[in-house]
Amino acid sequence: MTDSTTHLATPYRTHTCGALRDVDAGANARLSGWVHRRRDHGQLIFVDLRDRHGITQVVIDATDAPEAHAIASRARSEFVVTVSGTVARRLPGTENAKLPTGAIELRATDVVILNEAKTPPFYINDPDASIDETLRLRYRYLDIRREAMQRRLLLRSRLVQAIREVHHASGFIEVETPNLIKSTPEGARDFIVPSRLQPGAVYALPQSPQQLKQLLMVAGVDRYFQIARCFRDEDLRGDRQPEFTQLDLEMSFVDEPTVMAFIERMVLEVSRAVVPDRPIQSDPFPVYTFDDVMERYGSDKPDLRFGMELVDLAPELSGPGGAPASGFRVFDEALATGGRVKAIVAPGLGDVPRSRIDELTETAKRFGAKGLAYLAVGADGSIKSPIAKFLGDALVDRLVRRSGANPGDLVLILADAAGVTHDVLGRLRAELGTSLRLADPAVLAYAWVHRFPMYQWDVEGGRWDATHNPFSGVVAEDEALLETLSGDPSRPSPGDPAGRARALQYDLVLNGWELGGGSIRIWRRDLLERSFALQGYTIDRMRNMFGAILDAFEYGAPPHGGIALGIDRWAALLSHQVNIREVMAFPKTQSGSDPMLDAPSEPDANQYAELGLRFVGVPGKPQP
Ligand code: AMO
Ligand code: AMP
Repeated sequence: MTDSTTHLATPYRTHTCGALRDVDAGANARLSGWVHRRRDHGQLIFVDLRDRHGITQVVIDATDAPEAHAIASRARSEFVVTVSGTVARRLPGTENAKLPTGAIELRATDVVILNEAKTPPFYINDPDASIDETLRLRYRYLDIRREAMQRRLLLRSRLVQAIREVHHASGFIEVETPNLIKSTPEGARDFIVPSRLQPGAVYALPQSPQQLKQLLMVAGVDRYFQIARCFRDEDLRGDRQPEFTQLDLEMSFVDEPTVMAFIERMVLEVSRAVVPDRPIQSDPFPVYTFDDVMERYGSDKPDLRFGMELVDLAPELSGPGGAPASGFRVFDEALATGGRVKAIVAPGLGDVPRSRIDELTETAKRFGAKGLAYLAVGADGSIKSPIAKFLGDALVDRLVRRSGANPGDLVLILADAAGVTHDVLGRLRAELGTSLRLADPAVLAYAWVHRFPMYQWDVEGGRWDATHNPFSGVVAEDEALLETLSGDPSRPSPGDPAGRARALQYDLVLNGWELGGGSIRIWRRDLLERSFALQGYTIDRMRNMFGAILDAFEYGAPPHGGIALGIDRWAALLSHQVNIREVMAFPKTQSGSDPMLDAPSEPDANQYAELGLRFVGVPGKPQP
């Protein structure tokens, strides 16, 4: 018997459908599985029998086994059957090199139909079938029978296993934290669960285990990790689900380099264990500051598998006195008001028709730009540009040279406030990277981004919002900046030095996605209170929302920090997917529903009554 699946033998099978090889020829075997495909040649019936482990060809010969043949002739796709028989080498020339079991077949003596199946709503045995996604989700249990889904779930399982192994070997302990808790803000809405025992009160499902893991550090757990389910009520996208999984961890007595070094080693070990064939672009991972990546890539999660860096055109646009003097009003005004004029070069698009450039302009406008200028460099070196008449030929040439464009390239130029220029060019860069296939799909380009601004001014709220985690610590030399102009943290204003403070926050980026984020935390009560005050919390609200952690910090909190990585995102990127639904067994649709279970659905009238709730109608719609 082939060794590795021996332990999977049961009364229904001696082997799995992926186990038999030519060395097994002559042995008796029993297999159970689903009818993947059935070919009826009259005298001979061929059944490809499938289970999670593989596919084995079964032959039922009417002469040798008339009863088995009669039963097999009733079998249809996806019937569940048990077949007993003898393993035989296939006739020369009929071997199937694509199947690990392709050298043999099972000559059936006995066939039992364990269960029949309706005709499935889509082909399970056709890997290229294009199937409507709602149908796939409605019949997810059939979708998961398909080989591609099986492979992805297997990869995800190996990913989590490898993660656990590295953490256990590195002194972490796995602790489960509860899902019925109190609000932990991570920038989304909470899902809430009404309490029956305390009518009128609710639990919140965790947006992350943030506060609990910090409390575990106060508890002396030292190194914690968890494969944690998180819940965030936010608008869904390809990389976002309302319910998702984090590798969440926290470490005591660490600084930023310690956490980053551990994560880097863990990520390398896990990647090599799970996808040994995928080249890792840089080891060690490059480390960028937030200012640096915004300046060079216009994004805090750049795809580093291709270049196309943003080029600053300002040095070419100024006159002798340093004042903007390009001759093009849009550029000069942007520079005169502290804005930026920057470019990216789209390789090979220099000769595209006008309509393609109009499309890019529309895309830029959708991203928030007022317009998009361009210099199209033809294959012959000639330059076409609607703004050449303002700039003059000499300046146009200098701009092309500065941009680094070659003949046949298209230079796209944006002038606006720094934030808009970076954001729009960064998103155009990402989009062009995809449409022009600039990135090597095999490569894994991990990178760190750190030194994020601690806060950004919230005009409406009149406060400083934490740009990341509200518990983030501040870079040591910036600690004195956590000040307000008035000297009173509860009266913040947009000119405060706090606006310049940098957080001890680090994000891990992979192929253009934010894979994870973490920070070294504030671990002193006075500093945490000051930070919360800047973020607009009154003392009462602070006590109400974060009482536990503020109290705990008075009982000896060690310095600590950690991070969380999105497991769904990691599994998706490791299996070449652009939507995390493809690596989740039972994900939600874009509108947050589960078409298989029909969730969410109306609660029972009794459930309302027990919880003391009454449904008052859909928000924004008149009541019936
Ligand atoms: P953050 O909010 O950055 O940090 O989340 C960490 C990682 O979780 C993943 N993620 C998601 N994945 C799928 N769907 C979502 N809706 C979703 N939201 C987040 C991302 C993200 O990088 N408590 C902090 C971590 C810390 O500071 O230790 C936190 O949750 O991959
Ligand atoms: P206008 O003079 O406004 O018609 O613009 C002339 C050219 O400049 C057009 O190609 C516009 O798309 C482009 N343009 C307008 N605003 C900007 C901007 N903020 N940055 C770059 N180009 C712009």
